[in-house]
Amino acid sequence: DLQEQVTLLEQQFSVSTEKLKEVTDHFVKELAKGLSKEGGSIPMIPTWVIGWPNGTEKGSFLALDMGGTNLRVCEVIVQGEGKFDIMQSKYRMPQALKTGTKEQLFDFIAESIKTFVDENHPDSKEMLDLGFTFSYPTEQHAIDHGKLLAWTKGFDIPGVEGENIVPFFNEALARKGCNNVRLTTIINDTTGTLIASRYAHPTSQIGVIFGTGCNAAYMEKFGNIPKLDHLDFDAEMPMAINCEWGAFDNEHLVLPRTKYDVEVDEESPRPGQQTFEKMVAGCYLGDIFRRVLVDLHKQGLIFVDQDITKIEDPLAMDASVLSAIEIDPYENLSDVQALFENNFNILTTEQERQLIRRAAELIGTRAARLSACGVSALVRKAEIASCTVGADGSVFNLYPHFQERLAGAIGEILGSEHGEKIKAIPAEDGSGVGAALIAALQAKGLGLTM
Ligand code: BG6
Ligand code: GLC
Repeated sequence: DLQEQVTLLEQQFSVSTEKLKEVTDHFVKELAKGLSKEGGSIPMIPTWVIGWPNGTEKGSFLALDMGGTNLRVCEVIVQGEGKFDIMQSKYRMPQALKTGTKEQLFDFIAESIKTFVDENHPDSKEMLDLGFTFSYPTEQHAIDHGKLLAWTKGFDIPGVEGENIVPFFNEALARKGCNNVRLTTIINDTTGTLIASRYAHPTSQIGVIFGTGCNAAYMEKFGNIPKLDHLDFDAEMPMAINCEWGAFDNEHLVLPRTKYDVEVDEESPRPGQQTFEKMVAGCYLGDIFRRVLVDLHKQGLIFVDQDITKIEDPLAMDASVLSAIEIDPYENLSDVQALFENNFNILTTEQERQLIRRAAELIGTRAARLSACGVSALVRKAEIASCTVGADGSVFNLYPHFQERLAGAIGEILGSEHGEKIKAIPAEDGSGVGAALIAALQAKGLGLTM
């Protein structure tokens, strides 16, 4: 019966405190390995952001923010002392763009910038400096250079991996006749979040995105980055590191993967990559959940004799479906009933709905608890006694109970006393403000090249 299935799901998706600790221990080692000369799965990318903002930064900058879901063009006026003003246009990135050609992608970006600049600076003859938040694993030899290592978050555009994206960007601007914009800075969304969050909260030491993807950035001392020890810098000097921790455990040594996680990976455009991200990020939560339901249907256990074609589509459900299921306030789950009937043409019994709810809860809880391993591992790696963690992304901001579950699991891993001193707080407009602040730091000479 269905109760038995619920128990089976609970066994597969629950992560005990002990397991969280085991995952975290391994995570700490892998973070260090990524900084070593030999390297490891986690890229631990030096960003050439070598200092915190100190409140004296000022100026007006354009910021282009390309995450997994939206494209934003912003103008940020940094006013100093933690203050800023932001004006922005937001565009949803069409799904087709994620697997189209590189010209289509960069033309869309350039077009969005041109529209924004034409509207807001119609007569500008002056060059406008732009910081580009490009949120994919990007190796940087300088702050205005970025070689894409691999697409993540379901993107699959040929001819960009292994290449510096700056020429593609500049060529597209030229094609669109946008000749008063100059790209000065490339950053990751986590780096932007780290810097912006520090600007608003001096206790911030970590920036994390829990969104379509999942990743973090923090400040490391040069002395702890063996892979840069050929450079002659003071061992105490800080360098922001974009961890790209989504790649944690690509060797499949510790994460408690289920058969559904294995399927998600095998059918993704980049099998074998981003193992951690595929268990915790918004891009995949809906798909994991969908596969559970399809599997139970195939075993003849749910939606018996119904046509489930609609949920057989890998893109049928995103994380917002799980959110909606988790927030259904009615005891008989009538919102869930309507959701399945209206969107997927599936009728549900109350018992099925209870299973659906429990499955969503298990997947959402596992995501938050495993995410806590990443945060706790960074806290331990950087020997942080207490700090705020600037956080952004749709999962952090919108997924029900995510923040409490995350905080709870951090307490289990680090102990409640230490855990309480690690506080994840929303980093408002992190990427836009971060890109502007980094462009401002750059203008002050705090951006390096190798
Ligand atoms: C936005 C940031 O708020 O969150 C982006 O501006 C970031 O830089 C994004 O990439 C992450 O969230 P999601 O859910 O859109 O991937
Ligand atoms: C993916 C990207 C990473 C980004 C994260 C959050 O993990 O590889 O660069 O920071 O998503 O958007």
